Amino acid sequence: MAKKVLSGSATAVAVLLLCSTLQLAAAIKDGLLPNGNFEEKPKASDLKGTQVMSRYAIPSWEVTGFVEYIESGHKQGDMLLVVPEGAYAVRLGNEASIKQTLNVTKGVYYSITFCAARTCAQDERLNVSVTPDFGVLPVQTAYSSTGWDCYAWAFLALFERVTLVIHNTGMEEDAACGPLIDAVAIKTLFPPSLTKENLLKNRGFEEGPYVVPNTTWGVLIPPNIEDDHSPLPGWMVESLKAVKYIDSDHFSVPQGTRAVELVAGKESALAQVVRTIPGKSYALTFSVGDAGNGCEGSMVVEAFAARSTVKVPYVSSGRGGYKRAVLRFVAIAERTRVVFLSTYYHTKTDGSLCGPVVDDASVLSVRSPTSRRRR
Ligand SMILES: *[C@@H]1O[C@H](CO)[C@@H](O)[C@H](O)[C@H]1NC(C)=O
Ligand SMILES: *[C@@H]1O[C@H](CO)[C@@H](O)[C@H](O)[C@H]1NC(C)=O
Ligand SMILES: *[C@@H]1O[C@H](CO)[C@@H](O)[C@H](O)[C@H]1NC(C)=O
Repeated sequence: MAKKVLSGSATAVAVLLLCSTLQLAAAIKDGLLPNGNFEEKPKASDLKGTQVMSRYAIPSWEVTGFVEYIESGHKQGDMLLVVPEGAYAVRLGNEASIKQTLNVTKGVYYSITFCAARTCAQDERLNVSVTPDFGVLPVQTAYSSTGWDCYAWAFLALFERVTLVIHNTGMEEDAACGPLIDAVAIKTLFPPSLTKENLLKNRGFEEGPYVVPNTTWGVLIPPNIEDDHSPLPGWMVESLKAVKYIDSDHFSVPQGTRAVELVAGKESALAQVVRTIPGKSYALTFSVGDAGNGCEGSMVVEAFAARSTVKVPYVSSGRGGYKRAVLRFVAIAERTRVVFLSTYYHTKTDGSLCGPVVDDASVLSVRSPTSRRRR
């Protein structure tokens, strides 16, 4: 009898273990989503020209509305469409969407990366959503010279199974006008922890969205996202325009493998709120450099905290490099907003937007000059 009970509980343990292993195995891995680069094709019978004729025609995806399956090299008017990842992409016409259901871990933050190219419409907007979160991302300014830009967006998983929807909210005269989408990927975000000395979270921008290995133009972090839902944990992009997340595989970064390029002048500001003690002195230390991407010129990065501000000049030869800078400030509240922005706009010779790089930032409490004198 005792033996039977024992073996019964052993089975229960085994079943539990098996369940948790299965659950772990089922949660999605970082990287491209299943058929995230659309290389698995619809059957020829599900296509009419480029138009996708049935809901489940593209493996792993569900489509609604006017969706086209586009092969790299496809010509539209005098525009040659080139695809960043593999040879295929999709195009979302007016009110069209693609969706995929993902197995995730409840309570965990994820960031979605996808690449999009504007085609013929003037003002294209994509609504990216995982219920109940959504973000409307404008796809109007080309930051890269290829016409493709990659975008990041983050969500908190409230369920074990969630549905990611990318929806073109456009209402163009030509229903076929709409952005191309490719390389849809996911990355688990780990909330950055504070160290005792440094008050800034994710100080080197090492924690952030997935960078699609075959893309060479970074990932845009869109503005106006609440900081707990930022694809760049700890940081917010204020103002109107995006900042660019860059990686050391394709760019020169001052420290580690990731950094941020301020590509939109004063229209984009990178900010973080830190806890401070009013009256205490602090030092914000950071690196200012260039991404080694041919962005040349006299640059200035401005940093703000409490009532203090500093302008850090940096002459970029476009070949990489950086200098260290410091902003000393006295806190006037329990929360201090630390902000970085680029004073000027910069463009590369191909016309794409670029700018100075910020990396390796820290806020440390320092002794004030008066207390030092007393010692
Ligand atoms: C997601 O989980 C369900 C069970 O909850 C399973 O049937 C399905 O195959 C999983 N999907 C993937 C892509 O792992
Ligand atoms: C991505 O880049 C790798 C390495 O450069 C290459 O081998 C691979 O074919 C590329 N993949 C696609 C889909 O273009
Ligand atoms: C975006 O999509 C979500 C989910 O479908 C929806 O709830 C939300 O209203 C949409 N927002 C806009 C501005 O279209």
